[in-house]
Amino acid sequence: MTIISPSILAANFLKLEEEIKAVEQAGANMLHIDIMDGHYVPNLSFGPNITKQIKSVTKLPLDVHLMIEKPERWIKHYVEAGADIITIHPNSTKHLDRTLSEIKQHGCKAGVALLPSDNLDILEYVIGKIDLILVMSVNPGFGGQKFLPNQLKKISNIRQIIDTKDIILSVDGGINDQTAPNCIANGADMLVAGSYIFSGDYAEKIAKLRL
Ligand code: DX5
Ligand code: ZN
Repeated sequence: MTIISPSILAANFLKLEEEIKAVEQAGANMLHIDIMDGHYVPNLSFGPNITKQIKSVTKLPLDVHLMIEKPERWIKHYVEAGADIITIHPNSTKHLDRTLSEIKQHGCKAGVALLPSDNLDILEYVIGKIDLILVMSVNPGFGGQKFLPNQLKKISNIRQIIDTKDIILSVDGGINDQTAPNCIANGADMLVAGSYIFSGDYAEKIAKLRL
């Protein structure tokens, strides 16, 4: 069954605890936590303090997506805040291998996120230490953008590379009931969705993404 990770970015922050419990009740498998620093991406979201508060009200694993410069400065803080998976962008750190190792040393799962313009070469020498690959099907920074269909080929190419390896293939950006089936058909195991899930009946929306 496809893993569904609702992006909290699209939740109503004035009632965040209710929103988290509602998606948990509605069948979400994880919570996607979008961290934006206003440098690596144009937008700002929130940091480790709010992440820690989110952790305190849910049993769902936290799937933390760091869209920040020099993520190595912040790994420890997100581990302490309760992250279960930490995903970083290769071009946000000078030492991708070292930063992934640091995530693993803390007992967290490590992910690599690929921008729409990134190719797959960067995966070759780190594939042995990652647990998740996040294909960005929009340019990161904002929720509610349109899915970029040229990322479907990337999803199927990655599927071939990871084959039977124990690595989750996740897709993030513009996921809805129209785009999800194409992602799944091309080999995605996991879908991140923000605006689609948080704009209606959560259980119905999550079920539709798994169809
Ligand atoms: C984009 C974020 C996404 C975003 C997805 O920078 O990484 O996780 O919240 O939002 P939707 O599903 O609305 O495209
Ligand atoms: Zn994200």
